[in-house]
Amino acid sequence: MVDSLADPLLRVEKLVRRFGGITATDNLSLDVMSGELHAIIGPNGAGKTTLISQLTGQLAPNSGTIHFAGRDVTRQPAYRRSRLGLARSFQITSLLPDFSAIDNVAIAAQAHDGHSFRFWGNARKEIHLRDAARSALTRVGLEARADVPVSELSHGEQRELELAVALATKPQLLLLDEPMAGLGVTESARMVALLKELRREVTIVLVEHDMEAVFALADRITVLVYGRVIACDVPDAIRNNEEVKRAYLGDQHVVVAHV
Ligand SMILES: Nc1ncnc2c1ncn2[C@@H]1O[C@H](COP(=O)(O)OP(=O)(O)OP(=O)(O)O)[C@@H](O)[C@H]1O
Ligand SMILES: [Mg+2]
Repeated sequence: MVDSLADPLLRVEKLVRRFGGITATDNLSLDVMSGELHAIIGPNGAGKTTLISQLTGQLAPNSGTIHFAGRDVTRQPAYRRSRLGLARSFQITSLLPDFSAIDNVAIAAQAHDGHSFRFWGNARKEIHLRDAARSALTRVGLEARADVPVSELSHGEQRELELAVALATKPQLLLLDEPMAGLGVTESARMVALLKELRREVTIVLVEHDMEAVFALADRITVLVYGRVIACDVPDAIRNNEEVKRAYLGDQHVVVAHV
């Protein structure tokens, strides 16, 4: 459960990011508490991916601050934030298609450990990486597919593999950008079940357009419109918020509670 008295694991204050004349994140403030699954929703172009990229360090804000686990990480490079326990999955796949599932996870774990590829030949190191990779694959239900090349995995399996890649870095905070994108009904249901498991172990920020998934999973929901937070609350309050309905949820067909 969310402990409102605790310090937030992630604190974003007055974040601004402009692209030319567009303000993609507009004075955005947000707290993510340790242990919560915090969903971020909003129309296309609302600034969700831009926010995630600033959290990971792939994109620098024009102003504002980001604190993670009590530290100011606003100016820290992505690799250092990753070592502090921030992990991201991408809206567009970032897997290596010719490599096997387990190699994709092992390579990510190795990059996270800060070693270059010349250590790949070190047998003990390699065994350790493969064990860690295998256990990440097991957590997402892909252990039987470990040796299959990514190009032969289904779309749903590739999404699960991306989660395993993120988990291999042992994150404290997992940032997921549309993990359900392009999934069919059965695959989406599998992903929701998987995220229900993972949320017990790791704090999650979930950007997602699939409202059925969001309302099934979220402890709290932040709604972004034109880079601004228009609401941040528990799912029931968001569902009944008139401004949110006008700006976003009114267009969505599925706003059903799944407990
Ligand atoms: N690299 C960029 N250069 C110029 N403009 C950008 C860039 N990245 C994003 N934008 C603009 O910033 C705004 C926010 O985009 P962003 O991708 O963050 O939205 P989003 O909420 O993730 O949308 P979606 O739901 O479609 O993924 C949009 O107007 C977009 O066109
Ligand atoms: Mg996006």
